[in-house]
Amino acid sequence: MPPFSNLTVVEHAVIQDKLARLRHKDTPFHDFRALLEDISLLLFYEAARALSTTDQVVETPLETLTARRLTRPILLVPILRAGLGMANGIVRVFPEARIGVLGMYRDESTLQPVDYYLRLPEDMHHMDVFLLDPMLATGGSARSAVDKLKRHRAECIVMLALIAAPEGVSLMQRHHPDVPIVTAALDRQLNAQGFILPGLGDAGDRYFGV
Ligand code: PRP
Repeated sequence: MPPFSNLTVVEHAVIQDKLARLRHKDTPFHDFRALLEDISLLLFYEAARALSTTDQVVETPLETLTARRLTRPILLVPILRAGLGMANGIVRVFPEARIGVLGMYRDESTLQPVDYYLRLPEDMHHMDVFLLDPMLATGGSARSAVDKLKRHRAECIVMLALIAAPEGVSLMQRHHPDVPIVTAALDRQLNAQGFILPGLGDAGDRYFGV
């Protein structure tokens, strides 16, 4: 398979270990929840590596130095439901992140995304926006989510997904080549029901324990 120019797979050993446990069918939902949050935080850390910083003078108790602060506010945009778990993981260590919300589910027969909620700030063009969804399957939800973010004037958008299917990455490459995708794994394919193989099952059901 040719590499995708819009995709970064984070091969870090700690992420891969946690992903292996997340995928296991016998992992109970409370462990699944903790693992999903941990991986999300680690992906965010990696994806945020090159964010713009601005020099700022800081007085320590001993001296004054010029240090670096993040230039722009960070906005997390989880796609409900399961994206919420990713946001929970990231705000544990980055509580200053702002949060916008997109409510969307995938129709089981057409596999098309259906909108049910949208709450986004007005000034997204001043922010570094991280779109959060554990699963990038057909890519229909991600494409529609980025359409909405851009309509709300978001300019710097990165998508974080725990696992991605080639079909979804390819759709995003065609429609939103300017949006980098950072993931823990590029899986093999989708099955006839649009589930990622080998995948991890339904991330929303497993995270919420229902
Ligand atoms: C899943 C997943 C994505 C979407 C991916 O959500 O969390 O949002 O499907 O599929 P796509 O790439 O083919 O659009 P789901 O519809 O199961 O909703 P849920 O999170 O409420 O369970």
